[in-house]
Order: sequence, then structure tokens, then C-alpha cells
Amino acid sequence: EWTAANIADALIEQVREQVGDGRAICGLSGGVDSAVAAALVQRAIGDRLTCVFVDHGLMREGERQQVERDFVAATGARLVTVDASETFLSELSGVTDPEAKRKIIGREFIRSFEGAVSEVLGEGASKGEKVEFLVQGTLYPDVVESGGGSGTANIKSHHNVGGLPEDLQFDLVEPLRLLFKDEVRAVGRQLGLPEEIVGRQPFPGPGLGIRIIGEVTRERLEILRHADSIAREELTSAGLDGQIWQCPVVLLADVRSVGVQGDGRTYGHPIVLRPVSSEDAMTADWTRLPYETLERISTRITNEVADVNRVVLDVTSKPPGTIEWE
Ligand code: XMP
Repeated sequence: EWTAANIADALIEQVREQVGDGRAICGLSGGVDSAVAAALVQRAIGDRLTCVFVDHGLMREGERQQVERDFVAATGARLVTVDASETFLSELSGVTDPEAKRKIIGREFIRSFEGAVSEVLGEGASKGEKVEFLVQGTLYPDVVESGGGSGTANIKSHHNVGGLPEDLQFDLVEPLRLLFKDEVRAVGRQLGLPEEIVGRQPFPGPGLGIRIIGEVTRERLEILRHADSIAREELTSAGLDGQIWQCPVVLLADVRSVGVQGDGRTYGHPIVLRPVSSEDAMTADWTRLPYETLERISTRITNEVADVNRVVLDVTSKPPGTIEWE
């Protein structure tokens, strides 16, 4: 019988069997999936799990603090933070192809995890000690859309599936691999995770790196982070969070258009709003947001964010458009 309790118990048992008396690390992204995966594995193997948060510099405003605070408060898990933004940004420099970006980000995540192992083991660790397992919050749709399911085309390489290096030093533990998002949320609630974590809207592991169309640079990240925080703030204060699945905010960094602001002509970038409604992210519809909310977001972004002079709304369903632009 499908109940969250049954599923959680079965998954915990599977993880125990797989990991035995080994040690594991779990990459936390701030999202629901990695949080639920970590909580499951923590139930299974206790403090032989260490969570690792890689700050790749592609996070949204406030995200790092949220992981460091909320997740640790909810689970008491051990958390190591790796500051890898310099490396990620330099590896991404000059790269514009979406799949290339995804592969670089996937690879750098793994390198960061490998680099964190000595800190995870601690100073007192003896020579033979190691971390054999890497826990990932991979879901069924990630596997299917990365071409992992039988007979499916590779639509895009999710950072934790198609982007993994071939010489991976870890065995993967992916307890959520057969689940959809709503099931993951149910399991998370069953494990006692708070609603701020379980109810969070999806956010992709590669972060803002795949929401800048064009090369990813520090300046562009700053523009997008600012626009995104305005959109999120307005959606939340309009009480719309529950009605949308997620709302990517995208910077068309290689596009400029003419505007008129203040005393004169501007030549700035467009920001795209991509609000979607969905059950499982396999298909999606664009959300009919109230005009007043769209207007507030547009006015604030063009007034407050330097270099942005236009806000456009994406009215494409999935298919044909995917949710993320890259
Ligand atoms: P698409 O763009 O394929 O997105 O329609 C479907 C859902 O997956 C999220 N997404 C990702 N999540 N790593 C993730 O953890 C990724 O590489 C990735 N790519 C897309 C996306 O935000 C949406 O919820």
C-alpha cells in the first residue's frame, strides 16, 4: 500500500543495506529533493552522513543562509560548507552552450565534494578512512529527461545525472530515484521536515547559471539575482506562491533593446518571467498571473535593477518549451 510512512521505511531500509557501515556525504542544494534525501539517509545511518553545501556562486539571494540555518535547525545534521564560487565562475567563463554549462557545473559539484572529504573525515581520521558514498536527491523525472530511462531522448542533462564525470570516486545513493516531486514532499513531511523546506518551489541545482542566456559572469549574476529577488518578493506578498509550481526569472544577457528611462535613451537587457503550473514538471502550463502583480514586478525590476529596461512574460507551455530556458 502506498503511504508516505511505508515508502519512507522501505527507503531507509534500502539505504541501510546499501551503505552498510560506510560513510556518506550528501550535497545539499537548498531544494526539497536533496533535503529529503539527506533526511532519509540520516535516519538510516545517523552521523555517518555529513551534508555538504557547495556555494557555487550561482545561488539566489539568501539561499546559502537558508540552507545553513533551516536545514541544520530541522535535522541537526552535520554540515560542511564549501566556498567554490571562484572555481565555478572561472570554469564557466566563455561558455554559452547550455549542455556545456550543465556538464561543467555537474563536474565541479563532484570535485567540490571530493575536496570536502578530508574536512568531512576530520583531523583525527586514520589513513584508510574514506567516504565511499555520495547521496543525491535525483528524482524520476531527472532520470527520464537526462536520457536515463529506456527509449527517451536526452532533453537536458540534469546536473546530478547526465553531468557526472566518468571517473566518479563515489558510489551513488539515490533513494528518490523512482519518485515524483509530490511523493518526495509526502515523504519529507513524514520525516518531520518543516513546511518551509518541504513546500519550497523547485530550483535547479545549476542555479542561476542556466538562467543567464549567454556567458555567466559575476556582473550578470548580480543583475539576475536582484531581478529574481524582486519577482519572488512580489509573488510572495501577493499570496501567489501556492498557485505556481515555480517561476524562473531569466536574463537574456546577449540581447539588448532600446528603452527610455529618466532623461534619456537606454540600451539594456530584457528579463523574462516564466511562471508555470505543473504536477510533476514533466509537463507544465504557463500560469495566468494577475495583471496587477505582473505590473508591480515589471515596474520594480525596470526601476530598481541596473541595465534592465524591459520585462517580458513567457506564455509557452511544456511541451514545447521546457520550464528552464537552458
Ligand atoms: P525543465 O527545464 O527540464 O525542468 O522543464 C524540469 C524541472 O527540473 C528542474 N531542473 C533541474 N533540477 N538539476 C536540478 O536539480 C538540473 O540540472 C535541473 N534542470 C532543470 C527545473 O527547475 C524544473 O523544476
